[in-house]
Amino acid sequence: MDGKRIVLGVTGGIAAYKSPDLVRRLKERGAEVQVVMTDGAREFVTPLTFQAVSGREVRSDLWDKAAEQAMSHIELARWADLVLVAPASADFLAQLAGGMAGSLLSTVCLATSAPIAVAPAMNRLMWSNPATQSNVATLRARGVHVVGPASGSQACGEVGEGRMVEPADLADAALALLPVKGPLSGKRVLITAGPTRERIDPVRFISNRSSGKMGYAVAQAAREAGAEVVLVSGPVNLCAPVGVRKVCVETAAQMHDAVMAEVDAADIFIATAAVADYRPAQPADCKIKKTCDHLDVPMERTVDILAAVAQRENRPFVVGFAAETNDVEAHARAKLERKNLDLIAANEVGDSKVFEQDDNAIVLLWADGGRQELGAGPKTLLARRLVAFIAERSGATAT
Ligand code: CTP
Repeated sequence: MDGKRIVLGVTGGIAAYKSPDLVRRLKERGAEVQVVMTDGAREFVTPLTFQAVSGREVRSDLWDKAAEQAMSHIELARWADLVLVAPASADFLAQLAGGMAGSLLSTVCLATSAPIAVAPAMNRLMWSNPATQSNVATLRARGVHVVGPASGSQACGEVGEGRMVEPADLADAALALLPVKGPLSGKRVLITAGPTRERIDPVRFISNRSSGKMGYAVAQAAREAGAEVVLVSGPVNLCAPVGVRKVCVETAAQMHDAVMAEVDAADIFIATAAVADYRPAQPADCKIKKTCDHLDVPMERTVDILAAVAQRENRPFVVGFAAETNDVEAHARAKLERKNLDLIAANEVGDSKVFEQDDNAIVLLWADGGRQELGAGPKTLLARRLVAFIAERSGATAT
């Protein structure tokens, strides 16, 4: 968020006591924060608190001549890279949905071209009231990002949906909404990652040692390069990088379906997943008991997701990975041709190589003998180099 400018709107609700902490979380992430309070918010927290944590004078009054002369409400609306309203009261959501401009904050929201996010916070019945829900639906349809609310115990003593999302999570959500400028700005990147699990019986499955680290690093690098990223992931112990939409799957068939649901919108497809090539042909309904010395589990082929995407008529730029134990480049080049890919990233795998490790070594291959070494190093570094290369090459292919 370095240098990113956020207008933080604070409206009247008890959750406003958490907003000074939100200012700190945003600033920790490098943002400049200008707080705009409504009259209701001032009943809960003093402007002095926000001034102390934000380092900027708080704005509240649309009719404050001195403040307007320094930076008018229109300049404030232009200044913002993001307008975040937290907490957003039921009343403020109604004002925003109705296009009202009676307060400084609602005027800034009307006059800005920056993304707007709201973090609703109110009593659970106020939240579920059809009037509030209709306002929220209107805002969503207009592209306003609605973050939360969370569920739990409420200040009014009730339990339910209506709590403001916690400040650290809100700050991460804000980070994800800020437009990122980079070589992949405006591009949509679809990535598969991690292993798949193929069911043998209700308690057993066949899987592999993929940790998902490479795929998640590629997703983060693509997001850092400005892309809108969807990550279709098998079961791994990793959190989605900030700003990346994650779709969780378990089996190869589910991964295939999730990819097919997203691929039409994708400009670039990167298959890093270690998809099972075979699955038990008839998974048992009950746990298999050890009644004999040998167990044969008949297997059948899974669908090749990468090849299926590459076969499509209006296909994205298609990148595959080849994990090989021997003759790495020869096998990878054969895969590039067989699956009709635009690019393949080849790496050598073995007992102590690549799987579950933080480091990797990659060679890129493409048609007509094209070859480039990305070198060896942390997967995060190689992912950035790979994404930079894909950005250049996919652009070159498109023109
Ligand atoms: N892949 C896929 N769907 C599958 C199998 C593989 O999308 N069912 C993708 C992987 O994500 C990877 C590439 O295909 O990008 C290479 O996978 P790999 O299993 O190594 O290659 P195969 O073509 O299956 O060849 P082989 O098993 O003979 O090495």
